[in-house]
Formats: sequence, C-alpha cells, structure tokens
Amino acid sequence: MKSTIHLNWVYPFEHENSINGKGKILPSFALALFFLLKCAKYMKILGIETSCDETAAAVVEDGRKIISNIVASQIDIHARYGGIVPEVASRQHLLSIIPVIQEAVAKAGVTWQDIDGIAVTFGPGLAGSLLVGVNVAKAIAFATQLPITGVNHLEAHIYANWLDFIPYHSPPSEEERVKFPCLCLIVSGGHSDLVLMKRRGQFEKLGRTRDDAAGEAFDKAARILGLSYPGGPAIEQVASSGAPCLSLPRAWLKGSYDFSFSGLKTALWHLVQKEAVLADLSLVADAAASFQLSVVDVLVTKTIEAAKELSVRQILLSGGVAANKTLREHFLTNSPAPVLIPPPYLCTDNAAMVAACGYYHFQDNQLSDCDLDVVPNLSLG
Ligand code: KG4
Ligand code: ZN
Repeated sequence: MKSTIHLNWVYPFEHENSINGKGKILPSFALALFFLLKCAKYMKILGIETSCDETAAAVVEDGRKIISNIVASQIDIHARYGGIVPEVASRQHLLSIIPVIQEAVAKAGVTWQDIDGIAVTFGPGLAGSLLVGVNVAKAIAFATQLPITGVNHLEAHIYANWLDFIPYHSPPSEEERVKFPCLCLIVSGGHSDLVLMKRRGQFEKLGRTRDDAAGEAFDKAARILGLSYPGGPAIEQVASSGAPCLSLPRAWLKGSYDFSFSGLKTALWHLVQKEAVLADLSLVADAAASFQLSVVDVLVTKTIEAAKELSVRQILLSGGVAANKTLREHFLTNSPAPVLIPPPYLCTDNAAMVAACGYYHFQDNQLSDCDLDVVPNLSLG
C-alpha cells in the first residue's frame, strides 16, 4: 500500500543568522575552515528519521527555521495489525526513504551544494528501521562529501522545542527561547523520561517508566476499548465526548521521579469487563476520558513537583503523547514555570527535530564517520 506523505510547512519569516559564536576550538584546520565557511551563511542541515514507523526527511536552517519537512507515515499499514510490525516497518522505510529525501530537498528549493551537513537518528528504535536511515545517510555523506552526525532520537524530540513554530516577526534568540536549567518530559511510544537539562547538550535522567511508556499505555488502552491504532489520537477523540467520571488508579511512586502505567492499564481492563463497557458507546467514551485523565494527572503532577524541587526555569514537553490536548492544557494551566510545547506535528516523529539537534552537534563539533552504527537501546542522560 502506498503511504501518505504529509507535507508540513512553516511560513518563512524575517530571520537573523543565529550562529552565536559558541563554537569550541576546532581540532583540525579542515574543520576550522569548514565552520569558517559555514558561519558566513545560514547553515542548512538535512535531517533523516527512520527509528520507528515514520520515514521522514527535513531541511532546517540554523537549527531553527524549517525549510521543508516531509513525513511518510506507515500508520495505515500497521493499523490492520493493531501495532507496529518491525519487519514490515523496515521494508516500508526501504521503499519510502529515497522519495522522501528527494522531496525534502526539492521542497526546500535547494541542491546538494546548498546542504551543509546530514543528521540521522541512530537510536533508540527498531534496529531494522534505524539501519535504513543510517545507511542511506552514510551513503549520501560519502557521495556528497558532506559531514554527518548521529542523533539520539530522544534528544531530537527535545530539540523540537528549538524550532521556530511560532510566527515571530523577530525570532527570539536561543537564550530567549529556552531557559536553563529546564526540565524535559519526553513522552512517546517507547519512553516516558524526565530529564534535567542544565545547559544545551547536557542531560541528567531523573526518571523513566518502570513498565509501559505513556504512549504504549494509550495504545494498549485503545485496544482494550476496541479503538484503532495508534491509540493516543483514538482515545483523545473518543474521550472528547465522554466524562472522566470512572474511578481509575494513579501510580504516584512517591519519593521517585519514575512513572508506571501498567497497573492503570490492568485496572482499565477489569473495569471494561465488570461494567460491560464495550456494550455502551457512552461508557467507552467515559472510560477513554477517565484513562486519559489518569495518565495526564500523573505526568503533570510529578513533572511539576520535580520542577519545583529543582527550581527549573522552564518545562519542555516533547514526544508523540505531548500532542494530547488535555495534557497540554493541564501543563499550561498548572505549571508555575513557563512551559514550551511544540505544535502536535512536531511532537510526533519527524526529521525537522533531528536536523535541529544535528545543527547543534555540528556547532559542538560532534561529528560521526563511516563507522556510525545503530544503537537500538540508546538512552539519554
Ligand atoms: O514520538 P512518537 O511519534 O514515536 C515514538 O518515538 O514512539 O510517539 C508515538 C506515540 C504513540 O504511542 C501514540 O499513541 C502517541 O504517541 N500519541 C498520542 C497522541 N498522538 C500520538 N498519545 C496521546 N494523545 C495524542 N494525541
Ligand atoms: Zn519519537
């Protein structure tokens, strides 16, 4: 089946060169020359993302301005199995990767000579899927002689917050946009990580999920409620016509920054059996709303507690679950610290966030070479 290519454009707006002279002393003359030349103009990075079930490529200028952002989603293909089939995912990436990259370069209106570097996700994720992106990126780097950097998918999710998604007339500098120390909550299909970022590139993992990730919990709950895959958007939609009136537990794990969602999932299953929920569509909506609120309640309360304890200056949300409207609203109304959340299309997997992260790798001289390999269980901090 042909996958849909969703094209997301961010309007170009007045933009000052943001290379801020923070670079370190470079180890070689060649690299020094490379950056000297690049600092003289806007730096365009091609981002490539294939860690899960989205084949994505994007061109981003100076780590901020999205020039093109192409995502070929495999959702329709995996939906019939109720979840991602890794072998199917990697085969689909093989079919999509070249057209997606070609489209990203074409929509950006650039040639390969205009691209300054390649950033590719090398982990965490599905091994077969990651291999497609990493090998294509290395082949392009070899053919074009462009520098390449491997990007941690979780770090890339955080860097979605650096992208210019608000049409500022005069874009803020990095310092104005993100304030350190900040607390990053990454909630995706595979992770629920609470990470302290003291400054750019420095991460300290404070908490993680002890069982199901938040997105995984949404996906499993949707299956219990007879809803489609992916579960997050399906639950959110059904929940909008229900009320969070059913009693479901919250795992607070007091004294720890960790999360746990498997007990909630089991409680939902018991509730569905006991109350014959599936026989009544309004009960399904109430169960979806109650489940959603339980997850949101725990994520928001624990993150805000940590933010207060650590006196952070900002909270950064990211990952597919951050697309959830209730989660976004609860954070924005309850957080004492300012909250940054990318628009939904930059919360779910995309390559613009990879390119943004890669830009800072290049600035910090974190280059990869032809030995770059996939690390499916890569972590952050
Ligand atoms: O970040 P992402 O696109 O891929 C991974 O890195 O895993 O996250 C996908 C996860 C899925 O579990 C999906 O159900 C969840 O994000 N998700 C949502 C919403 N949109 C996507 N969860 C709750 N509400 C949403 N609106
Ligand atoms: Zn992701």
